Amino acid sequence: MTARNVVFYPDPDLRAPNRPVTEFNAELETLTSDMLETMYAHDGIGLAAPQIGVHQNVVVIDIPEEDGSQGKHQLILINPRITELAGEEVESEEGCLSVPEYRDKVTRHSICSVSYQDLEGKEQSIEKAEGLLAICLQHELDHLQGKVFVDYLSRLKRSRLQKKYAKLLQDKH
Ligand code: NI
Repeated sequence: MTARNVVFYPDPDLRAPNRPVTEFNAELETLTSDMLETMYAHDGIGLAAPQIGVHQNVVVIDIPEEDGSQGKHQLILINPRITELAGEEVESEEGCLSVPEYRDKVTRHSICSVSYQDLEGKEQSIEKAEGLLAICLQHELDHLQGKVFVDYLSRLKRSRLQKKYAKLLQDKH
């Protein structure tokens, strides 16, 4: 497993279209284990492939235990799609590995069902996820549509963030 470089907002690469996975092979296994490694290296709870510059419909999630430990709830979602959004709209604070050191409130549905394929290509589903998992699923699947959580913020906040992070990106290069 190798932690890969994260693509940071507002890099246009985060907006590029993503393709469905058609081959369930060793390369896909390496990709998903690298994604998990990258996510853990940055203390994340979810990561989408475009966040490491791979334009495929792949997401990994690991919702921590109450004591913060991870590893028990690892999810590898290939070609995931939302099949149901239900429940109340809830506001919660989100962060993103592509927008480091920033958190803000976003409104999402409280219940979310998802269909996906596993590493063998078998159809699987998560029915009526709630709580943090429901939020995380919506956040990560947004990445596959080229969407970042800051897109939900006010225009003023977005333009401030865009300037701040564009400068950070520039300073890095
Ligand atoms: Ni994110």
